[in-house]
Amino acid sequence: MSIEQHPLGLPPEKIPRHVAIIMDGNGRWARQRGLPRLAGHRAGTENLRRILEACVEFGIHILTIYAFSTENWQRPPNEVRGLMSILEQVIDREIDELDRQGVQLRHIGRLEGIRQDLQVKIKQAIERTRHNGRLILNVAFNYGGRAEILDACRRIMRAGVDPEDLDEEIFSRYLYTWPLPDPDLIIRTGGEYRLSNFLIWQAAYAEIYSTPIFWPDFNRDALAKALLEYAGRERRFGRVLEKA
Ligand code: FPP
Repeated sequence: MSIEQHPLGLPPEKIPRHVAIIMDGNGRWARQRGLPRLAGHRAGTENLRRILEACVEFGIHILTIYAFSTENWQRPPNEVRGLMSILEQVIDREIDELDRQGVQLRHIGRLEGIRQDLQVKIKQAIERTRHNGRLILNVAFNYGGRAEILDACRRIMRAGVDPEDLDEEIFSRYLYTWPLPDPDLIIRTGGEYRLSNFLIWQAAYAEIYSTPIFWPDFNRDALAKALLEYAGRERRFGRVLEKA
């Protein structure tokens, strides 16, 4: 990347290492076309392939996607079933290609609560791709940020960590995302301005970008626009930066 010209003309330090996406707007995309909501989720899944390619092209190393939240169980049963079977189909149909492309699949969230056979598929897909390093695709499925923090607390207490020793670095080791770095950029499609319980610990210093574009329409150029805006922001991490 340092020798070749970046496709957007960005220097390496202006490219986010870890991008996380709240893929919102599938339902509205479908409604606009008079289609059932699941058609929107299927179009969103197709879009994922395009965005994965664009991430590789732009030099992004980690992509975390919010695919199913702990709150999504409250959606109509057929939509829940549909989202479960989309994950199953993605694993069944795409794992060979993902593996061939050097994608490492990871999962964050609670496996408990997910159908047993799907749990097995998720674990097998993770195991199969664990040595890949071109792009990490981290799928948040049955994920909730507060649940993640509670699970971390439980694990810390079970591990007998001395309360006096606990600091942010140690705490983060007990999060689902360990050892991945925090996201640099969180993109939300569909026009809302909230985190919706997504990576709430890890988002502390992330840049947040919201676009009205619905997820199935969020293409390479839309991602490029988000990256250019990110590159123009000044990240201070709570400090004051010296003016040049
Ligand atoms: C939010 O749109 C989207 C979701 C809750 C699901 C996102 C899932 C995918 C894009 C499929 C990919 C999934 C996997 C497992 C790889 P919404 O339904 O809330 O849209 P709306 O706000 O317009 O109703």
